[in-house]
Amino acid sequence: MEKETQLPWLYELYLLGQSQLLRETPAIVQQQILQHIIRGFGADTGSLALCDTEDCFEMTIVAGTGLPENTVGSSVKCEESLLGWVMRHGEPVMLVGDAAKDARFSNLKLHSHKERVGCSMCWPLKLEKRMLGALCVNRAEIRAPFTHADLEQGTLLVNLISIVIENMKLHIAQQEAHRLALQSREHLEQILSALDNVVWSITPDTFETLFLNPAAENVYGRSIAEFMADSNLWFQTVHPDDRKRVGQCMPEILEKGVLDIEYRIMRPDGEVRWIHDHIHAIFGENGEPVSLNGLGTDITQSREAEIKLKKSHAELQEAYAKLQDIQSQLLQSEKMASIGQLAAGVAHEINNPIGYVYSNLGSLQKYLDEVFVVLDVYEKFEPLLASHAEAINVVRAVKRKADLGFLREDVAALMGESREGITRVKKIVQDLKDFSHVGSEEEWQQADLHQGIDSTLNIVNNEIKYKAEVKKEYGDIPDIECLPPQLNQVFMNLLVNAAHAIEDRGTILIRTGSANEMVWVEVSDTGKGISPENLSRIFDPFFTTKPVGTGTGLGLSVSYSIIQKHHGSINVASEVGKGTTFRIALPVKQPEPGPETKTML
Ligand SMILES: Nc1ncnc2c1ncn2[C@@H]1O[C@H](COP(=O)(O)OP(=O)(O)O)[C@@H](O)[C@H]1O
Ligand SMILES: [Mg+2]
Repeated sequence: MEKETQLPWLYELYLLGQSQLLRETPAIVQQQILQHIIRGFGADTGSLALCDTEDCFEMTIVAGTGLPENTVGSSVKCEESLLGWVMRHGEPVMLVGDAAKDARFSNLKLHSHKERVGCSMCWPLKLEKRMLGALCVNRAEIRAPFTHADLEQGTLLVNLISIVIENMKLHIAQQEAHRLALQSREHLEQILSALDNVVWSITPDTFETLFLNPAAENVYGRSIAEFMADSNLWFQTVHPDDRKRVGQCMPEILEKGVLDIEYRIMRPDGEVRWIHDHIHAIFGENGEPVSLNGLGTDITQSREAEIKLKKSHAELQEAYAKLQDIQSQLLQSEKMASIGQLAAGVAHEINNPIGYVYSNLGSLQKYLDEVFVVLDVYEKFEPLLASHAEAINVVRAVKRKADLGFLREDVAALMGESREGITRVKKIVQDLKDFSHVGSEEEWQQADLHQGIDSTLNIVNNEIKYKAEVKKEYGDIPDIECLPPQLNQVFMNLLVNAAHAIEDRGTILIRTGSANEMVWVEVSDTGKGISPENLSRIFDPFFTTKPVGTGTGLGLSVSYSIIQKHHGSINVASEVGKGTTFRIALPVKQPEPGPETKTML
């Protein structure tokens, strides 16, 4: 090559190595480079092989002219070809005539006839010690062969070609790396855009937004541009009630490097949403915080579901408690109903005999009185029998035997006791009848409970006055629809029980009030209280802790059924040694009588 043409040639070679086409079609450019070299050396054909790997065990022919078909792209075993030989020996070679006749290449499987005749120059391509590949140019047999000067000049140029080739390879690698980077960035962006979660990154000191994915617009209802423009905006979106808590978490993030936090945000449309943020602090080489990155999840729905669940759980529990209450009331009224039937039957059966025994006792007393009057008269005339010694002896003997003095006293006592007994039986029968409501006249009326309580107090005053001081705290209550005599009976039972419970002296407090269409009455005493094991039994018919003859055990069960009939409730609270409070609640208006209310008791 002439000296003056060398420089433009080199420059053109350099440009080829920089070609933008390299990335898309490296084979074409490599072919162009080879072509350029062939032209530069005034050769007819040539080939260019590049190492596949760093150790250069195999090469691939990347460009060639005058080679058998499909040679370009095929690999070259280093032991088998001239290119390989050159590369292995690291020195250029010039061949004139048939290569196969040269002892150095006797082991090689040479490609074609063309390779073996004419003349060839072959150079290894290397940079410092690193092998890149090999280059070969050939001149046809009929033309003048290459000279040793050509080989030497070529050796100098090949270094440059190596640089260009290396450059080209670097260029390809760089372009590939760039393409991969772009591709993975694109991929990442696709992923980030498709996420429902908010992915964000801010500076830890000024809170400037470094990155925000499109999900933020959906969740926060504001554009990414708004967040980018105003570093305070995010904190302002936090719900005022949560701001303090969120603001205080900064030291913890910097200390632990990671934090999970839940808070509310307010959107411009007024909607409040719950966010779960998983925050990571990124630190620089010197341990200084570089950025805060986070993954925000909109947990509004699950939060709401949780709240709903809690609410329905509470409702369920309430309903369950109510159900239990109703069940125990049902059990009680069931018991009442069956006992009521029994009581009604018993009362009915006993009522008649009791009636005539009671009235017969009255007659008997009268007759006995008369008999004693007759006896008195006989006794008065007894001295007149003195002359009839036989008669008087008989009378005296009979009198002595009968112990008339004692008889007279004892008959009176027995009659008194019997009458008292039968009176008590009559009272029990009456209680039983009340309990079962047999024969009680029912007339619903509007009545003032205070009046009922006061008149009942008058009646039971005798039983109470030695035991307790009665205090009243009457509230403002409306008249209620009720059966006044029956309610009076309830008040009486409660007041008498209260007095019985007080051992020495105490207080009975009567309180009233109204709320929600209901009127309540409380009777409290400072008596001995009711033990827990008895508390569940006091409403049972015939349950009493009082001595035989004092209590019937019917007072509270009768009261219970009366209150039930009024669609009210009766409850008790008691503490042993302190006292007891009974609380009655009654509706102001009775519900319309349905078919089922008639079957109660
Ligand atoms: N105010 C009260 N203080 C303590 N115990 C009470 C009170 N009221 C009722 N009791 C208990 O309930 C039982 C049942 O009362 P009740 O049905 O009126 O029947 P009785 O009064 O005839 O025993 C009583 O025997 C008593 O043990
Ligand atoms: Mg009683």
